[in-house]
Formats: sequence, structure tokens, C-alpha cells
Amino acid sequence: MADKKLKVGVIGVGSIAQVCHLDAWKELEAKGTVELAAVCDIIPERVEMVSKKWDVPKTYTNYKTMLKQGDFDIIDVCTQNRLHSSISVDALHAGANVLCEKPMAMNAKECEAMLAAAKQSKRKLMVAQNMRFEAGNERIKAMIDRGDLGEIYFGEARYLRRRGIPGWGKFHIKRESAGGPLIDIGVHMLDLIIWLMGCPKPVSATGHVSRKFGDREGLCNGEWGVPYPLKEFDVEDHAAAFIRFENGIALSLEVSWAANIPKDVQGLRILGDKAGVCTEPLVITSAADGALTSMQYDWLPEQEGHRMEILHFAACVRDGLPVRVKPQESLRIQQILDAIYESSKRGKEVAIK
Ligand SMILES: NC(=O)c1ccc[n+]([C@@H]2O[C@H](COP(=O)([O-])OP(=O)(O)OC[C@H]3O[C@@H](n4cnc5c(N)ncnc54)[C@H](O)[C@@H]3O)[C@@H](O)[C@H]2O)c1
Repeated sequence: MADKKLKVGVIGVGSIAQVCHLDAWKELEAKGTVELAAVCDIIPERVEMVSKKWDVPKTYTNYKTMLKQGDFDIIDVCTQNRLHSSISVDALHAGANVLCEKPMAMNAKECEAMLAAAKQSKRKLMVAQNMRFEAGNERIKAMIDRGDLGEIYFGEARYLRRRGIPGWGKFHIKRESAGGPLIDIGVHMLDLIIWLMGCPKPVSATGHVSRKFGDREGLCNGEWGVPYPLKEFDVEDHAAAFIRFENGIALSLEVSWAANIPKDVQGLRILGDKAGVCTEPLVITSAADGALTSMQYDWLPEQEGHRMEILHFAACVRDGLPVRVKPQESLRIQQILDAIYESSKRGKEVAIK
């Protein structure tokens, strides 16, 4: 496929497609490696606007028609979570390689259907975990892979917004999204830290999820995007979890869209017996000669994760290379998310098979 222009179609051209994906596809088109051939959205005005603004020749309001007519090399799925699995499966069976926005799907069963379709069609499938492509996170991965941290035994990931409930799209509706901040921003943090720690196999999770703000008048609705109807809000707005892995590693996770805390927090901490690393800012602390020293990265090159992930996926399809975010790894992340919700419901630790 190396000399051929890859034919690309984007399904669901709302916020993330417009803010991140379409520009990256157009950048590749300008380089002559892909052709952004079609866009699809169920909102006709939106798809027409996108087609004009990004100069895309074909528009569709029905993705099945688009897949039938298209003969696509790549389909980029940017709809709400409920449709990730069904659209990806259809696109894979239609012969396309699929880049699908995070989370992979609504639950592990849907992820398994996607994996099966990828296997059957012999096409690539990658979940758009853009944080794996950010400069600082690539540095941490290289440090850990070189053994700079020694034996890793614990990780902590936090992404806490004081007032940051998405007010657009379907994020606040369980049947459309499967959950709140856990499946929205928690999936980023979980995927990132587990990848950095070498993708150990999860064995159990204990979870606690709560809804305290999103469905109550005047607490924070509409402070971040357009207000949604309060009665629609039926997901959590805070989640915490403790996850154990096969090799003895453990991980603590906390995420929120709303919480009474003095400031927003986003970062990771990974502890190894030779060194530890934390982010925001990126600092590595190591023990040598009976002392501790910390080295802080003050500047890193600009590297937009979404753009890099799209460039990477296109290169993998073109050159037949393995994708960085393996679908099997994304299935494991989904199994952890499912177990956290289940554990919260049951009030006890849940095993992950
Ligand atoms: N990687 C990230 O950092 C990041 C950030 C934001 C959103 N996302 C993910 O992107 C996805 C979309 O989020 P968003 O904020 O763009 O939401 P959005 O609601 O703005 O966009 C979704 C679009 O899909 C369209 N759509 C719905 N059903 C469709 C169908 N059957 N066929 C074609 N189009 C259809 C909607 O009309 C809408 O335009 C979600 O899964 C979300 O988790 C990822």
C-alpha cells in the first residue's frame, strides 16, 4: 500500500473531529499520502458545514451508505461511545482499517466484537488514546523501557476537575456513554499509566463512584459548555478505584468532573525501586549513593497527541506496521472500567478474568 493514497472517511463530525481529527487528515492529504474522501454525520447541516470548511468532496448522513459506496482504507470513528463498536465492526467488515475514539466501547463484550471483526477482516484497529503520543509521556515510556525506574510496584493517576462537566454531546447520558468521568477522562489516565507500566494484566478492581453535582440545580451545570437538561444526567461525577495486577503492581485512580477541591489536578506518579516519576511537571527522582536527587524537565518540544496518533495510524496502515495502541490492551482497559462500575455497585472487590 506504500505508494497508494489512503482513502479516508470520518464518521461523526462533532467536537473532537472538528477540533483535532480533520486538520490532521488534511495535513496528510497536503503531503499526498491520504485523501480525505468523505464525512458522515446524522446532522445534515453539520456535515455540510464540515465538508465546506475542510473541503471534503462527499457527505453522508447514513454511515452504512457511505461504507457501501466508499471502498475506504481508513475509517475514523468519532461518534458518541454507544456507536463505537457497531460502526467499527461494520467498517472493518467493509474492508477498512479503523481508528476509533476513546473509550473503545460501552463494555468489554462490545470490545470483543471489535477485536473479532479486526481479526476476521485482517484489518487494523486502534483506539485513539492520544496521551500515549504526547512528548512527556513518550519520554517516561523510554525511561521505563530502559529500566531507569528499576522494578515498578505502584502507580497513581488523578484527573480531577472542580467544575468541568461536558455540556455538549452525550457525555452525561448513561445509555449513550456508559458512564461519566471514569469512562471519559479516567480511560485516558488508565490507558496511559498501564501502558507506561508495561501493560501488566489486571486481576481485580475495587471501585467507588458517586453522583453529587451533575443532576442538581445551580451546583456547576453549564459552567463548562452548554447546559444540559438536569434530568438527563444519570452518570457519576466522581470515581475512585484501586486496581491490582498479576505481577504484584497496584494502581490507584481518582477522577472527577466536579468536586469541592481548591484546584484542578491532573497527573501520574509511578514508583520504581531505582527511581520514581511524576508528571505536571515531569520530575524523575532517583536514589543513588545514599541520596535522593530530582531532575525536572522544564521544556519539552510541542507535540499534539491527537495529531501524532493520526499520523501514526496512517503510517501503520500504509507501511503494514503494528499500531501503538493494541486493541487487546484497550479491551483490558475496558474490563477494568467494567469491574470498577461493578465493584461500586456490589460494594466489594471484583475479579477481572
Ligand atoms: N481523545 C479525546 O481527548 C477526546 C475528547 C473528546 C471526545 N472524545 C471522544 O469522541 C467521541 C465524540 O465526542 P464529541 O465530543 O466529538 O461528541 P459530539 O457529540 O460533539 O460529536 C459526535 C458526533 O457524532 C454524530 N453522530 C451521532 N450518531 C451518528 C451516526 N449514526 N452516524 C454518524 N454520525 C453520528 C453526532 O451528530 C455528532 O456530530 C466520544 O466517544 C468521546 O469520548 C475524545
